[in-house]
Amino acid sequence: MNPLKHVAIIMDGNGRWGLKNKNSRNAGHKAGLSTVEKIIKETIRNNIKFLTLYAFSTENWKRPKKEINFLFNLLENFLKEKIEDLNKQKIRLKIIGRKNFSNKLNNLLNLSEKKTSKNKRLQINLALNYGSKAELIYSFKELAKKKELINEKNIKKYLETKDMPDPDILIRTGNTKRLSNFLLWQIAYSEIFFEKKLWPDFNEKDYYKIIKKYKSTKRNFGNI
Ligand code: FPP
Repeated sequence: MNPLKHVAIIMDGNGRWGLKNKNSRNAGHKAGLSTVEKIIKETIRNNIKFLTLYAFSTENWKRPKKEINFLFNLLENFLKEKIEDLNKQKIRLKIIGRKNFSNKLNNLLNLSEKKTSKNKRLQINLALNYGSKAELIYSFKELAKKKELINEKNIKKYLETKDMPDPDILIRTGNTKRLSNFLLWQIAYSEIFFEKKLWPDFNEKDYYKIIKKYKSTKRNFGNI
């Protein structure tokens, strides 16, 4: 059985779900947040130590302002309501991506990270204003600036994911097969699962099916 330490997820399909079911894209984001909570529980149940969720990409700024504001309000309210509970459950929250939001949100994110920084049961990496190419460019620039050798170990030193294993599994919901600038370096050997369901319809059973399939997959890492 393959060990499973890190799952990364592109939570796609909120907008389509919302339009189809409630005539509003934002209703889809709200429903998507309930799925996030279900998946966190199932991740803990399976004793997985890292969960990386793509919540907002560097490209998502192109969306209408109203939708962007809705998403960040949702996040703000979620953290205000749930950070104590996450902390009690020994969950660590880490933001990956550049925190260039309102002062209020930046402070809340910093506070949430600090409060939970010692927790070891599960680390949730929330990708916000994250883009893989920007992350890699930053790492290469650091190497050049410090005149360090360009090799795998050194490149990793300056990535947001420097302290964690690479994802074993990448899941993308929403019936779309693309990577959308997400963890391009880190998923070199990940098992990729494209799921037809839209994110709000995805549930713990679908997730567990993927976990089981992954565990019994033969992973070669270039060997035979
Ligand atoms: C992609 O669906 C989803 C997002 C850009 C946002 C993800 C946000 C959530 C799951 C809920 C909020 C989470 C937190 C942690 C506050 P899409 O809108 O691109 O869907 P579409 O492809 O159907 O348009």
